[in-house]
Amino acid sequence: MKYDSLPHLTLPKIGFGTWKIGGGSHADPKTDPVSLTALHTAIETGYTHFDTAEMYANGHSEELLGRAVRESQVKREAFFITSKVTPSHLRFDDVLKACEASLRRLQMDYIDLYLIHWPTAGMKLEDTFRALNELVRDGKVKHLGVSNFDLKQLKESQECSETPIITNQVPYSLADRSYVNNGMLEYCQKNDIFLTAYSPIEEGNLKKRAALESIAKARNATIYQIALAWVISQPRVITIPMSANPQHIRENFEAADIELTDNDCQILERIS
Ligand SMILES: NC(=O)c1ccc[n+]([C@@H]2O[C@H](COP(=O)([O-])OP(=O)(O)OC[C@H]3O[C@@H](n4cnc5c(N)ncnc54)[C@H](OP(=O)(O)O)[C@@H]3O)[C@@H](O)[C@H]2O)c1
Repeated sequence: MKYDSLPHLTLPKIGFGTWKIGGGSHADPKTDPVSLTALHTAIETGYTHFDTAEMYANGHSEELLGRAVRESQVKREAFFITSKVTPSHLRFDDVLKACEASLRRLQMDYIDLYLIHWPTAGMKLEDTFRALNELVRDGKVKHLGVSNFDLKQLKESQECSETPIITNQVPYSLADRSYVNNGMLEYCQKNDIFLTAYSPIEEGNLKKRAALESIAKARNATIYQIALAWVISQPRVITIPMSANPQHIRENFEAADIELTDNDCQILERIS
């Protein structure tokens, strides 16, 4: 695994996403065996950063993640757990309640990284951050971040936060480079903020492009691994691919070991 560092925090380049672990918008307990196998495989493979949210499977994703962590017998401190507060819970009291509920579902004493999942038109960031700052002071959350924020919203968050904003989690893949084009990646790189790339393999619908396939063939890798290797080749970019398939889970982890050349990256950046 490769790592990337901010002044006071080092994280693995590749973590594990949990959207659809435990269900979609609603809990779907029928899928628990597949979800738990995926989580256990991820832990055994060596993933330590897990990304979840109160919204995922209506909280059931957090329940399953907490259960898999406990069952693994790996100590809690070895994991880095990200969760997110839903946009409808951004008022002061609601943030505190949402975090308590996430901790209860995870059966953990703290969340390593707590994100605002999505900005809303009427959000009052000062009010939201009053609660988020309190959660950090109380030790219930270690780090704060945001997701799907534009530059103006990110800068406003930095002003409201008592601790550094350590990430903006946004879509980023070969097919979606909007957060490079809008200046977000450059801002993150210059300001010690991770850009956490979500949907890095285009939600599994990675388009087959000749250039991608030829680089994959030359490396004896899959096109998904090359797409991930490209995402993480950039400084301050970490990512969190999701998979319920044990073979994919291992392949995604191993993608961190692929060294792309500058020439490979230039070829990949010319495709869309
Ligand atoms: N903050 C936000 O608003 C936000 C939004 C979206 C996602 N996220 C986070 O980011 C994570 C990742 O994004 P995502 O789940 O949208 O998309 P993704 O990771 O780009 O793609 C997931 C899909 O790719 C397939 N896949 C994974 N590895 C593969 C491989 N090696 N070969 C072939 N297929 C593979 C998976 O199917 P199999 O199960 O069959 O492998 C799954 O259907 C989410 O789980 C979530 O934690 C955050």
